[in-house]
Amino acid sequence: MSHASRGTTDFDPRQFRTAMGQFCTGVTVITTLDAEGSPAGFACQSFAALSLDPPLVLFCPQKTSRSWKVIETAGRFCVNILSNHQQDVSATFGAPGTDKFAHIDWDRSPGGLPVIRHCITWAQCDIERVDDGGDHFIVIGRVTVLGEMLQDKPLLFYRGGYLSTEHPRVTPAQAELENFLTWTGGDTWL
Ligand SMILES: Cc1cc2nc3c(=O)[nH]c(=O)nc-3n(C[C@H](O)[C@H](O)[C@H](O)COP(=O)(O)O)c2cc1C
Repeated sequence: MSHASRGTTDFDPRQFRTAMGQFCTGVTVITTLDAEGSPAGFACQSFAALSLDPPLVLFCPQKTSRSWKVIETAGRFCVNILSNHQQDVSATFGAPGTDKFAHIDWDRSPGGLPVIRHCITWAQCDIERVDDGGDHFIVIGRVTVLGEMLQDKPLLFYRGGYLSTEHPRVTPAQAELENFLTWTGGDTWL
């Protein structure tokens, strides 16, 4: 049986972005406080749950992100997972701005960090380590506080636009995923 040769080594950044845009993600807002106590944050799709034990998450800020500099200095952040009612929140935090929180309702986590109201859930984290990731950093955080959960559907980001899930429950994945971090079939996960 012959195997066709596929793919191209000759791709530009636009093609790369389009290809990677086929991967659907949720949307988070990563928040923190600056030294004066002012809130800062940015919209972030490059978020993932990383480890169950210890409880670790990761996100990838652009090296040019102003919020990242504040988060790095603070050493702590909150990840806020957006619901499908929060496209406007994503748009506000996904653009540069001096006072992104001006028209946002928010509360404080136990560590005093901004928790955006009406998120599906949130977690407060300490920065554990930062690695280089090309024009981004890879930031690993240890979860110290877990927020409460709403039953809303998530806001999704796909091909550069927003999507919403119609059905909060999908077909269960196979049992081999039992110990996988985002497996929600058993009662061991949250
Ligand atoms: C849906 C969405 C997802 C985004 N994901 C990321 C991301 O993963 N990493 C990142 O650095 N910027 C991401 N951005 C872009 C930043 O939110 C945007 O550049 C913002 O202006 C950065 O603000 P700052 O300079 O105040 O940090 C995303 C924007 C949107 C709308």
